[in-house]
Amino acid sequence: MIQFSCKNMREQVTVYTISKETKMGLFDQINTAANSHEDAAKEKHLPVLSVKKLADKRYELHIDVGGGKHPSEIDHFIQWAGVRINDCYIGRAEFAAGIMAPVCTMIVTPETLPANLSVVARCNKHGLWKSEITLE
Ligand SMILES: [Fe+2]
Repeated sequence: MIQFSCKNMREQVTVYTISKETKMGLFDQINTAANSHEDAAKEKHLPVLSVKKLADKRYELHIDVGGGKHPSEIDHFIQWAGVRINDCYIGRAEFAAGIMAPVCTMIVTPETLPANLSVVARCNKHGLWKSEITLE
């Protein structure tokens, strides 16, 4: 733990550092295919992304969080999936427990190509999960 004060601020800021050996919990980070330590959780939480190129630089983006493997129950469900292009937030889909599968289709139009498209989904029990692809 490190504590320091900013020059022109009265607040003291505390920064917690974690060693490389520390395993992060699901709610301590945005989980990805590369950094998740729980294969079973990874399998049912990562957004599965597919795109179809349309005319006029538009793409049809299909998001299926967990590829049909995640439950949609009142106490355990995918709450939302947020979309970013080149780290710029562009929108999100929200899902209701019990009556909705965490699946949606959107039309996106990146300003420049290639573009990084990322989707972060949130499970109420297992935190944030991110997948990304490149639009070309
Ligand atoms: Fe979950």
